Amino acid sequence: MFRAPMAYAGDLSQAEFDELLDRRGGPAVVVHGGAGTRVDADPTPYFEGTRRAAEAGLRVLLGGGSALDAAQAAAIVLEDDPHFNAGTGAALTSNGDVELDASCMDGTTLRAGAVACVKNLKNPILAARRVCDDTPHVLMCGPGAEAFARESGIAEIPNSALITPRQRARWQELHEQAQREGADSVRRKLGTIGAVAVDGRGHVAAATSTGGTMYKRPGRVGDTPIIGAGTYADDHEAAASSTGLGEAILKVSMARAACVRVRDGASPRSAAVAAVGLLRERAQGEGGIIIAGPDGRLGWAYNTPRMSRAVIRAGMNSAKAAV
Ligand code: GLY
Repeated sequence: MFRAPMAYAGDLSQAEFDELLDRRGGPAVVVHGGAGTRVDADPTPYFEGTRRAAEAGLRVLLGGGSALDAAQAAAIVLEDDPHFNAGTGAALTSNGDVELDASCMDGTTLRAGAVACVKNLKNPILAARRVCDDTPHVLMCGPGAEAFARESGIAEIPNSALITPRQRARWQELHEQAQREGADSVRRKLGTIGAVAVDGRGHVAAATSTGGTMYKRPGRVGDTPIIGAGTYADDHEAAASSTGLGEAILKVSMARAACVRVRDGASPRSAAVAAVGLLRERAQGEGGIIIAGPDGRLGWAYNTPRMSRAVIRAGMNSAKAAV
């Protein structure tokens, strides 16, 4: 049986990661695979998935794509990876189906787009991007968002195709518990994916996507599609993507709270620590955040046992990951 090391586990030491995050100059990409990463699971798929996502984002930047294109490309890799709670592999609602939320934001123009409670999209981040680019709106939800995605040519898939055997088995356990002890007794496990990117000219962007908390009530929406809570980006501040308990993150508008600290002079690394501290102190919340500043400095922090994450900068052959 796999025994996960309880200590910090990563491609680099803590000090080496800190040095990498504190370097200035883009292009660079940071991704997270959620602050609910299990301590009892083999971390290998989380390392591999987050590395692949960060590398996909950097390829876009090096090919001349925007920071928003890069964050989106990284998010798609994680939505398609069944180990993460977003897109394929998302957590199930108490009804036993999947409801997805996603958002993105461009720091140069403050354009933002989000979808909530969509059930038939393989990559909800693509629908969020279409809301961002093609409509005067910021947030669309439910059947209206799905109809808009269809009009935009985004492929639909059956809800059942998003459900993995692992999530079905978890749902079964939680369902049995809910039947014995009541639905509100079920501890809402966490999971989200996100990406932040900065290009070589100081433009930043963020993208975030989730299936939400496990065994959530149908129609429940957390922080992920809410601009300022789950996602934020402003070239005059920073870009941030949150993960953790949405009900708490919403109360402190965590992504914007972190970006404002960078605007006011904090490094992205210390802004991330402060934002997660705010989450804990003011909302008793568990979670984490990743940040990219316009000067290329990066940050991450979390107050859960593990948050899978990876970082890559121009000039590196491969992303460096940790859980
Ligand atoms: N952070 C994701 C959620 O609470 O839905």
